Amino acid sequence: MKIAIVYHSGFGHTEKLAHYVEEGAKEVQNAETFLIGLDEKPVNWNLLEKADAIIFGSPTYNGTVSARFKQFMEDSTGPAFVEQKWRNKIAAGFTNSGAEHGDKLNSLMTMSLFAAQHAMIWVNLGLLSGKTRNDLNGIGSWLGAMAQSDNASPDVTPKIEDLNTAKYLGHHVAEITKQFCNGK
Ligand SMILES: Cc1cc2nc3c(=O)[nH]c(=O)nc-3n(C[C@H](O)[C@H](O)[C@H](O)COP(=O)(O)O)c2cc1C
Repeated sequence: MKIAIVYHSGFGHTEKLAHYVEEGAKEVQNAETFLIGLDEKPVNWNLLEKADAIIFGSPTYNGTVSARFKQFMEDSTGPAFVEQKWRNKIAAGFTNSGAEHGDKLNSLMTMSLFAAQHAMIWVNLGLLSGKTRNDLNGIGSWLGAMAQSDNASPDVTPKIEDLNTAKYLGHHVAEITKQFCNGK
């Protein structure tokens, strides 16, 4: 099964999360993962068409997804939306921002609505809210994975619990995709 992770990251923090999402997905047998950084090269629309699952990632800028991620969403109307090529693919999302809250929910909602418009099947984080900030899902999100980054190098932020929450999302999405592909 093919799992694509499409992300934008202006300063490397969301990119770091993307790597953890990939790591989590790879833990599941037969998961083939593809990291697609939106600033690196033109989007491989064929690869996305072949994917069984697409996990979206964006920093939260001004309370929503970044302009680059929005551009990706709009560009998809040509190769994918009109013919509904992503219909019934599994979808999920993660985001990251500077403030603890930072209006991150709006970014995940934007991604899930985008997935709905493509007739995709949205998978939630699937974790209870952590009891403390130092637990998995310490921010307490249900719709997708959230992380908080300080104004410092991605080498030191976001914290490991947030990175592991992203890893959990990748694993969870891969498990659900496996079940879906196997017809469970
Ligand atoms: C233009 C801009 C807008 C931002 N808006 C928000 C915001 O609405 N809420 C927030 O908590 N942080 C906001 N931030 C902080 C970023 O979300 C934070 O620095 C994040 O770690 C950036 O991720 P990246 O390194 O993947 O780009 C903003 C940063 C920029 C550059």
